[in-house]
Amino acid sequence: MLQDKIRQLKKERNAIILAHNYQIGRIQDIADYVGDSLGLSQKAAESDADVIVFCGVDFMAESAAILNTDKTVLMPDVGATCPMAMMITPEALRAEKEKHPDAAVVCYVNTSAAVKAESDICCTSSNAVKIVNSMDEKEIIFIPDKNLSLHVAANTDKKIIHWDGYCPSHHIILKGDVLLAKAKHPAGKILVHPECRPEVLELADEILSTGGMIRYAKESPAMEFIIGTETGILYRLRKENPDKAFYPLSNHAVCPNMKKNTLDNVAKALENMEHQITVPEDIRIKAKQALDKMLEVGRDD
Ligand code: 13P
Ligand code: SF4
Repeated sequence: MLQDKIRQLKKERNAIILAHNYQIGRIQDIADYVGDSLGLSQKAAESDADVIVFCGVDFMAESAAILNTDKTVLMPDVGATCPMAMMITPEALRAEKEKHPDAAVVCYVNTSAAVKAESDICCTSSNAVKIVNSMDEKEIIFIPDKNLSLHVAANTDKKIIHWDGYCPSHHIILKGDVLLAKAKHPAGKILVHPECRPEVLELADEILSTGGMIRYAKESPAMEFIIGTETGILYRLRKENPDKAFYPLSNHAVCPNMKKNTLDNVAKALENMEHQITVPEDIRIKAKQALDKMLEVGRDD
């Protein structure tokens, strides 16, 4: 069985598998740790494995490589990129910084290493508001997700300078989906990811990272939940809460790149030690400063 082969290869290579909450169920089941972007960065920073197989998308594997020079970081499929991360380049960010010389740059981890290297601090969906409020500067350039930065702007006194990026898999969720879901499951708690549109966030009961949703669903006395994020998370929610019901806010909220990792290419990654993720040292050092600062602040949901 492929699962046995992967377990054996993991032992031989002293490897761990880190998987994002959006991965397919079979990958989640074989992983050593399943979590959100912040949890995955924390795990990558503290692991003593020699090899990290990263089942997520490119910016997550890159963060693991930035945080660890002594480990080999592998991506099973290098085509697993994040379209939102491609919506900003270091050149464009430098031009924006010139326009706002007094502003600090808070950069969502969904960005390239080169963009992180141009930023003061990183954040994830689980700590964006806390990170922005922790800054001394009054003006913040928040990149690249506009929906997340609008959510931050609603929860801070800082002046937020927005960027026009978005996640196609969350942007597809509409206000009408929430109204329909509410009508169908009136007892359902509506949990949405801050990458959703403002009009969707407005109708939610809770705005949470994927890790925040996992914890909230476990601890809440509610028995029904409507989930406004990528549908891969439903596997874990249902597995960990078999007596509760979970409904997707939209069946269209799928991130195709997150689904590129399979048992087959995970086995190949370990067998052939492919595809190794490296970051040029000058960029890595600067990007690490932004990630380390975020890890010091920690989680907020
Ligand atoms: P989380 O950090 O909440 O898991 O989000 C990651 C992501 O890519 C959301 O689209
Ligand atoms: Fe990027 Fe959206 Fe996919 Fe997350 S769900 S990896 S933000 S495209």
